[in-house]
Amino acid sequence: MSVEKEIKRVTTKSLGLLKKNGTKISALTAYDFITAKLLDESGIDLLLVGDSLSNVFQGNETTLPVTMDEMIYHTKVVAKAVNRAMVVVDMPFMSYQLNIDEAFRNAGRIMKETPAGGVKLEGGKRVAETVKKITEYGIPVMGHIGLTPQSIHQFGGYRERGKTEEEANEIVNDAKVIEEAGAFAIVLEKIPANLAKKITKSLAIPTIGIGAGVHCDGQILVTPDMLGLNTDFHPRYVRYYSDLAERIGNAVNSYINDVRNSTFPSEKESY
Ligand code: KIV
Repeated sequence: MSVEKEIKRVTTKSLGLLKKNGTKISALTAYDFITAKLLDESGIDLLLVGDSLSNVFQGNETTLPVTMDEMIYHTKVVAKAVNRAMVVVDMPFMSYQLNIDEAFRNAGRIMKETPAGGVKLEGGKRVAETVKKITEYGIPVMGHIGLTPQSIHQFGGYRERGKTEEEANEIVNDAKVIEEAGAFAIVLEKIPANLAKKITKSLAIPTIGIGAGVHCDGQILVTPDMLGLNTDFHPRYVRYYSDLAERIGNAVNSYINDVRNSTFPSEKESY
């Protein structure tokens, strides 16, 4: 039996084993019960309750407005649907930046109030001490470096990171310090494929890429993007595995026509 089939419940340990074994890790985001159930039943390894819910669920322009209470609410909903995947939760903007104790309290709140298997937070060197404190007390942490959307106003846009030598060196160092701080995995967002390859080779923990090329230990995409539901967003790194926006539009048009023509409901659909 393949390693991924042997895993009954994905944990930090199984993710490490997948890397060791050279089996790629599949990850997607989830924000609601029905989608999480479908993704889990399909065999996805990791579900991230991403702060991208601020954009794709709440309709905000950035990930900044989503709150701790909202992340906790969506995690409870997602976790109810999941039997196999590891559920990881994004710590929202300003839930871990103020100071280490506040970060620790908020990570603890997520673990106490939801059945999540771990938390994710953005940043390299500057959050290393925070990651250390949280992991020392038994809370699994996933890092996130490269393009970190919570710093969008500092970056001034969603451009690729790590193109200059200086930025690339900084990202390599960030990966190292986050691993040393105790993270169980790390997201590499929108960096050159060769840089992601170098980082992936240099770390014992799995790297999960989004716009970081094929050499990462796994890949993550925002689910409404890859299903073709979010038609306003077309970055180069998204592959469209379906065209759900068009399919939903067609289905709803058919329904509207049937209602207007009185062909729905039929006798069979009536009591
Ligand atoms: O919030 C999110 O969806 C993420 C992924 C893009 C990694 O952080």
